[in-house]
Amino acid sequence: MYVESVVRWGAWSILLQFGLGASAGSCPPRCVCRPEAKEVICSGKHLNSVPDGFSSDARRLDLTHNKIKTVGRRQFSGLLHLQELDLSDNIISMIEVEAFQGLQNLRTLCIKNNRLKIIPVGVFSGLPSLRFLDLSQNEILVFLDYTFKEMVNLQTLEAGENDLVFISQRAFFGLQNLQELNLDRSNLTSIPTEALSQLQSLTRLRILRLTISTLPNNAFRRLHRLRSLLIANWPSLDTVASNSLIGLNLTSLVIRNCNLSVIPYSALRHLVYLRFLDLSYNPITVIQSNLLGDLLRLQELHLAGGSLLRIEPGAFRGLAYFRMLNVTSNQLTTLEESVFHSVGNLQVLRLDRNPLACDCRLLWVVRRRLRLNFDGHQPTCSSPDAVRQREFRDFSEKELPRLFTCRPARIMDRRPQEARVEEGTTVLFSCKADGDPFPSISWISSHKNVVSPTGRIRVLPNGTLEVRYAQVQDSGTYQCLAGNAAGNDSLTVGLYVKGLPRNRTIPYLSEEGWVEPSNSQAANSSAQMAKPYPFDAKTLIIATTMGFLSFLSSVAICFVFMFFWSQSKGQIKHTATIDFVPRSSMGGGGGDGGDGGRFTMKLI
Ligand SMILES: *[C@@H]1O[C@H](CO)[C@@H](O)[C@H](O)[C@H]1NC(C)=O
Ligand SMILES: *[C@@H]1O[C@H](CO)[C@@H](O)[C@H](O)[C@H]1NC(C)=O
Ligand SMILES: *[C@@H]1O[C@H](CO)[C@@H](O)[C@H](O)[C@H]1NC(C)=O
Ligand SMILES: *[C@@H]1O[C@H](CO)[C@@H](O)[C@H](O)[C@H]1NC(C)=O
Ligand SMILES: *[C@@H]1O[C@H](CO)[C@@H](O)[C@H](O)[C@H]1NC(C)=O
Ligand SMILES: *[C@@H]1O[C@H](CO)[C@@H](O)[C@H](O)[C@H]1NC(C)=O
Ligand SMILES: *[C@@H]1O[C@H](CO)[C@@H](O)[C@H](O)[C@H]1NC(C)=O
Ligand SMILES: *[C@@H]1O[C@H](CO)[C@@H](O)[C@H](O)[C@H]1NC(C)=O
Repeated sequence: MYVESVVRWGAWSILLQFGLGASAGSCPPRCVCRPEAKEVICSGKHLNSVPDGFSSDARRLDLTHNKIKTVGRRQFSGLLHLQELDLSDNIISMIEVEAFQGLQNLRTLCIKNNRLKIIPVGVFSGLPSLRFLDLSQNEILVFLDYTFKEMVNLQTLEAGENDLVFISQRAFFGLQNLQELNLDRSNLTSIPTEALSQLQSLTRLRILRLTISTLPNNAFRRLHRLRSLLIANWPSLDTVASNSLIGLNLTSLVIRNCNLSVIPYSALRHLVYLRFLDLSYNPITVIQSNLLGDLLRLQELHLAGGSLLRIEPGAFRGLAYFRMLNVTSNQLTTLEESVFHSVGNLQVLRLDRNPLACDCRLLWVVRRRLRLNFDGHQPTCSSPDAVRQREFRDFSEKELPRLFTCRPARIMDRRPQEARVEEGTTVLFSCKADGDPFPSISWISSHKNVVSPTGRIRVLPNGTLEVRYAQVQDSGTYQCLAGNAAGNDSLTVGLYVKGLPRNRTIPYLSEEGWVEPSNSQAANSSAQMAKPYPFDAKTLIIATTMGFLSFLSSVAICFVFMFFWSQSKGQIKHTATIDFVPRSSMGGGGGDGGDGGRFTMKLI
């Protein structure tokens, strides 16, 4: 074979010397021809146009790094065997229709880094074998309908780094075998959902550097074969709608360098084949418990460079195949074993660059420090001071029981607390606990509910329980629970509220909140006390006033408008019906309900 081709190329050069046919096996001036590889290399030769005289059996043609401006019609005809054509790094701004006609065997076409602004329909006709097309780093503004229509075998389209503002709905028509599409940096203002839905075979889609803030519902419909979706560097993306990924069956999902502050749990839920999830570089603060359990096959989660403060126990419950957690560069103080379904499967853990508190909660990690793969980055202790800056691998087995320790939570003042008060009184019960790590404190009400930090009965930041304006039905025992990883402690207190004689009034709502009444007006105590007060007084007053003001101003504007209108028309209309829609955001204020929003007024 080799000998034969050398002989053939030799023969052609002789033909050329005799000034015969340029097309049949010549080598264009300034180009390097490597007949044995069937390559013609004209890279960096200051060519201003595509030269003539290629050997008709060339397989690979390299025209990169020249000054070519245009590619004419049927410019490469006769190169029946050409498989790879590279026109990258020129200044091509114009490619004529049918420019590549005749390149029946062309498999790879690169037109990267040129100055194309528009691709007329028909430019790519006659390329039945093309598998790979690179149009990146041009200035293309739109993809018109049917631009790629004859490229039935195209598998990969690189369209990144253009100025795309629009992809027409049928632009990708005919790309029935396209598997991979890259749209990096574009000026699109929305996801080209319609255009993408033509790509029935698409398995990999990458969309980078877009400036939209919401991934809308049904963004990727009909992409049933899509397995890998990459969304990255969308700096304003803060919302992933719950049905945005519906219809997809992904195995790999990346949403990196965006502005998500929560994990889009509900959008992910149906991705039961997902194995790889990367949400790195988003300001996510917590991985909540039990919300990823539907991702049965998840193996890797990357959330590097986020704002993680906590990974709640049970966060990865149900994920039996989970083997890699990458949470490097966050704000985690710990990572409890109870976060995982089974730590036995965990192989790779990136926990470095977190302010880790080296206590009993991290003992499970340090015990596995030789077996676990830290990907070359040892976790380092930030506290307590005794072990500050020490890497996990530095600890000897012997010192572990002494260092990675916790002190169980213990409630400090255990004196019995019991309050017998009259209705309307405010009562405080203290609960101070100690322990390492510092225990969390919660209160359970007499009705067995967890008391929240807001409301009439609430837990103050220092752990004290406050019961404001105690009511008879508040009576009962309350339990303070203090707990940390090492243990729990509890304390029970009692509250007994005595009802008031009927001639005393209930406390009433003023701008400052609840106020003890003067004895003047008696009210129906039992009936009113039972009602919870959903707003505080200020909100209520503002809401009412605002509602009323906006109502008045709307009416005034309508009135003025209609006055001028009737004047200019020269006809006087005497009545008008005005529909007033109260502003819903104002809560209670404004016209009350549907019917109240309409009235009739008279014009003079
Ligand atoms: C596309 O966006 C870039 C950067 O935001 C801007 O410089 C360029 O002018 C835009 N192009 C068009 C056509 O809007
Ligand atoms: C990201 O979100 C935060 C608030 O959640 C907002 O203040 C910030 O402007 C957003 N960043 C961008 C680039 O939109
Ligand atoms: C989803 O993808 C997985 C993995 O590629 C495949 O095994 C499964 O059959 C697909 N399911 C559907 C409904 O397409
Ligand atoms: C973890 O994430 C960081 C940041 O994205 C990356 O550099 C590193 O390679 C990841 N580690 C593994 C094991 O994938
Ligand atoms: C807790 O805070 C409240 C209000 O800030 C204060 O009245 C109370 O004395 C505090 N209790 C303790 C035990 O420090
Ligand atoms: C403390 O209480 C929590 C929930 O009430 C429980 O899950 C945990 O196992 C307890 N811890 C210890 C050490 O008893
Ligand atoms: C309530 O009424 C009783 C008798 O009706 C009276 O003795 C008592 O002083 C009244 N209490 C107050 C607080 O007004
Ligand atoms: C209190 O309300 C009940 C029923 O709501 C009513 O029967 C009773 O007369 C009221 N009492 C006073 C003092 O208003």
